Amino acid sequence: MMERQVRVIAVDGPSGAGKSSTSRRVGEATGFLHVDSGALYRIMTLKCVEGGVDVSDPAAVAAAAARTEIESRREGGRIAFLVDGEEPGDRIRTPAINASASRVSAVREVREKITSILRSLAEYGDIIVEGRDITTAVFPDTPARFFLTASPEARAARRQKEEADKGISTQSREEVKASLLERDRIDSTRKCAPLRKADGVVEIDSTGMTLDEVVAAVLAALPPEWRAGARGAK
Ligand code: DC
Repeated sequence: MMERQVRVIAVDGPSGAGKSSTSRRVGEATGFLHVDSGALYRIMTLKCVEGGVDVSDPAAVAAAAARTEIESRREGGRIAFLVDGEEPGDRIRTPAINASASRVSAVREVREKITSILRSLAEYGDIIVEGRDITTAVFPDTPARFFLTASPEARAARRQKEEADKGISTQSREEVKASLLERDRIDSTRKCAPLRKADGVVEIDSTGMTLDEVVAAVLAALPPEWRAGARGAK
């Protein structure tokens, strides 16, 4: 039997650039399952924080990651990640997790474990995966690679609204912006698979764009046969 090659849409960019909203919508339009790879790094961070692990100690973080079992399952249009039998929900979206996630993400063993989880997800079928190293390290050979950006002000404003709407933080816009820029700095300067714009990716600066416009831009840049029947495609 001929097996069809699984298709992957890869989306990278800094915090608050709109990767999640865009990927969810493009996933709905194309039927590709949405994968939020940041959730995996956040789960590793949660396990460190809950376990009292010093996140500035890479060996301790690597040991905690080796003990952490993450399961995946399909939930509607996305892949959900479970730890200790449940989805951690907003427990991985707090300012405390935001503050430590970049340091946990810089540890090589953590990245190796998560990269192998992400590659194994192709068993679910076509996927749209968002993160920081999806276009450069996890799925560098896929023909659909995007780099989403926006100004720091726009990104901070979005994140602050999201956190306030969910009731998980009362940080000011300036505090949210400082925390986000510090994460970007660590994510972009780490040794192992840093956030960077790869050659050949489609770059979209969403600062002055609506979500509908960003989604349409992504759909328009997909290989034509991938968007056959896609809703919202131009
Ligand atoms: O996208 P996010 O804010 O949920 O990501 C949380 C952290 O994980 C952030 O510090 C960047 C890191 N991350 C990463 O290093 N590589 C990925 N593919 C996804 C996220």
